[in-house]
Amino acid sequence: MKLWIVGARGSIATTLAAGVLAAQRGLVPLEALLTETAPFAALGLAPLQHVEIGGCDLNPGNLAESAHATLAGVESFAVATIDALRPDLERIAITRGVLRGGGPAVDALAGDQRDAGAAGSAREMLTRLVADIRAFARGEPTVVVNLTSTEPTPAAPLLEWDAAALRRAIDDDDPRIQASTLYALAAIETGCPHANFTPSSGASLPAVVEIAREKGVPLAGRDGKTGETLLKTALAPMFPIRALTVEGWYGTNILGNTDGLVLADPDNKASKITSKKGVLEGILGYPTDGDVRIDYFKPLADHKVAWNFIQFRGWGGHRMRMQFTWEGTDSVLAAPLVLDIARLVLLAQQRGESGPIGALGLFFKTPEGSSEMNLHKQFDALLRWTAGE
Ligand SMILES: NC(=O)c1ccc[n+]([C@@H]2O[C@H](COP(=O)([O-])OP(=O)(O)OC[C@H]3O[C@@H](n4cnc5c(N)ncnc54)[C@H](O)[C@@H]3O)[C@@H](O)[C@H]2O)c1
Repeated sequence: MKLWIVGARGSIATTLAAGVLAAQRGLVPLEALLTETAPFAALGLAPLQHVEIGGCDLNPGNLAESAHATLAGVESFAVATIDALRPDLERIAITRGVLRGGGPAVDALAGDQRDAGAAGSAREMLTRLVADIRAFARGEPTVVVNLTSTEPTPAAPLLEWDAAALRRAIDDDDPRIQASTLYALAAIETGCPHANFTPSSGASLPAVVEIAREKGVPLAGRDGKTGETLLKTALAPMFPIRALTVEGWYGTNILGNTDGLVLADPDNKASKITSKKGVLEGILGYPTDGDVRIDYFKPLADHKVAWNFIQFRGWGGHRMRMQFTWEGTDSVLAAPLVLDIARLVLLAQQRGESGPIGALGLFFKTPEGSSEMNLHKQFDALLRWTAGE
C-alpha cells in the first residue's frame, strides 16, 4: 500500500512516517492499530511491512530535511531513532502542494514559498496534482490522505453546486475553490481512495461526492477522532442508558503545535469547533448548554490537554456534576488511525464501494455517510461491515 500524504511535513504525517520506517527496521513495535486486532485479521488488508510514503506540502524537498524540526519537543521518537532513519527519510520525496483558500493562517505557514504554492489556475493546479499522484502511485494501490492544516468553511454556494457546476468553476478559476477540493478531485481522477483526516470540508462538497460516485472511488472523512471527542462519544451514551438528563457539557482544549497555531485564527477554528460540537446532540437526542473551546498554548507542543465539565440531572431533578481531563499526544494518537483508515478505505475500493463510506464513521468526528455518533454503535457498524453484512 502506498500513502500519498497531503501535508506530508506536518506533525501527524512525520510521526506516521517515522513510526512506519522505524517499525520496518525493527526499532519500534507497530502498536495501537485497530486493524491489527483479531476481528480484522482475516480480511487480507494491505500489509504494513510494505507501506510506502510520499506526498506534498507547502515546501517541497525530502522528509529528512524537516523531520527533526517537526518532531522537536514532542519526544515521540528519540533523536537517535530519527537519526537512524535519515537515509529512509531522505528517500521520501515531497512535491509542492497547492495553496488556495486556507486563509491568512495557512498562507503564513507557506512563508517565502507562498507565491510558488499559489501559482497557476485551479485547472492547472489540479492537472499538476494528478500528475504527481500518478508518478508516485505507478498503478499500485494508493490512498491519498489529507493531513493539511484546517481550512476555513467553504463559501455557501459551493455546497449547492452539482458536479457540472464545480467543473465549470474550476475552468473559470473561481477563487472560492479551496485546496482541499482540488486534492480530493485529484485523488478521484487518479482512482485513489481519499481519506480526509482534517475538519476542512472541501472534500465533502456534494459535487465532489457526486464525482467520486461517478468514478467509483471511495471517500473516508472527516476530522479524525483522536482525543476529547473520542472520549466524549464513548461517555455520552451512558447518560441516556441511565435516563440521566445532561443539562450542560462544556469543554476546553489547549494545544501547542502548528495545528493549534492555525486554529488560533477564528475562521480556521470555526471549522474545527463545528466538527467537535456536532457529536453530543446526535447521541443524546436533544441540545445541551455549553461550549467547546480551543486555545493555542505553545509550551504544550504536540500534547493536548482537554478539560470537560458535565452537569446532569437524575431522580427528583437532583443535579450532579462530573469532570474529566484528557492528556494526549495528538500526532501519536492520530498516526495509527491514519493507517487503519487507509487500509479500510482500500478494502472498500476492492469491494467496489464508492462515495463516503459510513462504516468508517468510528474514526471521525464528523462521520460522512452515516449519522451515528455513538462510538460503541460505530464500532458495531464497522464490525458488521467488515463481516460483509
Ligand atoms: N492530531 C490530531 O489528533 C488530529 C485530530 C483530528 C484532526 N486533525 C487535523 O489533522 C490535520 C493535520 O494535523 P497536524 O497536527 O499534522 O498539523 P500540522 O500543522 O503539523 O501539519 C499540517 C501540514 O500541512 C501543510 N499544509 C497546509 N496547507 C497545505 C496545503 N494547502 N497543501 C499542502 N500542504 C499544506 C503544512 O505546511 C503542514 O506541514 C489538521 O487539520 C488537524 O486539525 C488532527
